[in-house]
Amino acid sequence: MRAPGKINLYLGVGAREDDGYHELATVFQAVSLFEDVTATIASDITVRTTGPEAHDGVPADERNLAVRAAKLLADRTGYRGGAHLEIHKRVPVAGGMGGGSADAAATLVALDHLWQLGLSIQELHEIGSELGADVPFALQGGTAIGTGRGDDLHPVLATGRFDWVLLTSKRGLSTPEVYGHLDALRDERSIDFGVLPEVPAAVLQSLRGGFPEDLAEALHNDLQRPACELRPELADTIRHGIVAGALNAIVSGSGPTVALLCGGPEEAAAAVERLREVGLTSQHVHGPVPGARIMNATSTAATS
Ligand code: C5P
Repeated sequence: MRAPGKINLYLGVGAREDDGYHELATVFQAVSLFEDVTATIASDITVRTTGPEAHDGVPADERNLAVRAAKLLADRTGYRGGAHLEIHKRVPVAGGMGGGSADAAATLVALDHLWQLGLSIQELHEIGSELGADVPFALQGGTAIGTGRGDDLHPVLATGRFDWVLLTSKRGLSTPEVYGHLDALRDERSIDFGVLPEVPAAVLQSLRGGFPEDLAEALHNDLQRPACELRPELADTIRHGIVAGALNAIVSGSGPTVALLCGGPEEAAAAVERLREVGLTSQHVHGPVPGARIMNATSTAATS
């Protein structure tokens, strides 16, 4: 199974609700940085993480979102067996790109197949949204508007392809902490965010048109300011990205990943090179790409 990481092209955050969540108006785009999850039948539910972003920060117990996805799926369907999950991690942990959500989405689709549960997309979607606000989008992929907690999805017409350069960070940022800092900033200035956030028409028009120059002007993230205050070096990263030739730079989700929108594949490759010259490692990805999907189903084929 393969599931993509995401960038938020627009993220408008409304008021904090009683449950601690915020009303969102966001536009997600799935990009070609993937989590691969291999599931095999086992007696228990276990997980092992490998790959460039595997490190001690990824729990191997119940706190792992893939393990929680497997347990919830077994619970909801009454399935009694287990599975071993191998996650090949490329999306940075706590990076604002929905890596854990991608793991959960890939696990749900993999186990639906492996355990032969026959759930509908809608049922997987509902179980996914219990695991986290970004899981339904990792199932769906492409480009989509997310409202509510971000899990109420509406597809967006996006033409062409967009080239991004990602500057990731070794040290993640806690999503609740970034939202909490936004609340504190708003409280300080007595700003009332009672109105529902909305995705501006300019964002949707630029996606329909497929011109990165237009999308570059429409990029916006309400979490950028709190993320930059919690991690001051992000302002430098953004500046380096612009100097390297990006059309615009944005913090993805709650950060600290910075996504640079480039004019095309050549411009993105040139930006990666210029960033390398100033000592920054970056990677070129593109979007939109599909959501969670099966790459290889050999184990099921062998038993059927
Ligand atoms: O749903 P998920 O576990 O991904 O959310 C992580 C945290 O992000 C939540 O605990 C909450 O602090 C914050 N969040 C929020 N409003 C949203 C989505 C997430 O405040 N709509």
